[in-house]
Amino acid sequence: MVINTQYGHIEIDYVSKYFVDPFGNKVLTVNDVTIDIKPGEFVCLMGPSGCGKTTLLRTIAGLLKADEGTIHLDNDLIEKPGPERGLVFQNPELFKWMSVEENVAFGLKARGVYKEQKDDVQKFIDLVGLKGFEKTLPHHLSGGMQQRAAFARALINRPKVLLLDEPFGALDAFTRTALQNRLVDLWKRFGMTCVMVTHDVEEAVVLATKIVVMSSRPATVIDIVENDLSYPRDRNSMHAIELKKQILEQLHSGEFSDEETYSDGIE
Ligand SMILES: Nc1ncnc2c1ncn2[C@@H]1O[C@H](COP(=O)(O)OP(=O)(O)OP(=O)(O)O)[C@@H](O)[C@H]1O
Ligand SMILES: [Mg+2]
Repeated sequence: MVINTQYGHIEIDYVSKYFVDPFGNKVLTVNDVTIDIKPGEFVCLMGPSGCGKTTLLRTIAGLLKADEGTIHLDNDLIEKPGPERGLVFQNPELFKWMSVEENVAFGLKARGVYKEQKDDVQKFIDLVGLKGFEKTLPHHLSGGMQQRAAFARALINRPKVLLLDEPFGALDAFTRTALQNRLVDLWKRFGMTCVMVTHDVEEAVVLATKIVVMSSRPATVIDIVENDLSYPRDRNSMHAIELKKQILEQLHSGEFSDEETYSDGIE
């Protein structure tokens, strides 16, 4: 059941973003980035640590404002956060004093639709595989379970866009693979556009329809690699291995001289 695929078109046009350093100097962080993300695509953003990926993601979220350029979602200029854009970060950031159920219900309550849609709470808890943990508080859950709850909390709003900042970065390899597969299932089912920051090349190859390779700060687009492997993807197929190699080479292509920051998925 794909609901949303005609929505979720993100147009990032000539976006630049500056920060001011402690000495008062303007520091260019994102430089003239243009990316066209079609409805229902799964885009991974990759680039060196500190290059500006989170900054770009937070600008799409409406948490930061671009200094130059624009970002439109389905032709509407993004100026502030909105429930049609769900967020999942590396740290699940659940409300510590609320049970799984209350965390997942939060978005419905915030939008004033809890009464009509309260049956969705159990549905989304089941969908992410947390049945039986409805009343549990976050600190009694493992990291992977907390991240599942964060996914349910974001998805219950039926977002057109899911913005993910290294959501599996803190998890062990086994849990990470399980949650990658679960994310593909959820994406296929709901059809939301996904934009995900990752340092894990294998993760990008397994998940993304499009991989954006960015330079060291200020982040500019080095290349946009289309990835048309069919799902479910075999991470050990020749095509996947070759794509991993190509992207790793591009990431290391002399745009920066920082230490190794990428994982090839081998633990
Ligand atoms: N609020 C802020 N004020 C000032 N500088 C900032 C702010 N947020 C980020 N920066 C700077 O902008 C640059 C890019 O940061 P950002 O978090 O976007 O990088 P990143 O690509 O996500 O890195 P990582 O892969 O390590 O998460 C960094 O140099 C950072 O110090
Ligand atoms: Mg980041």
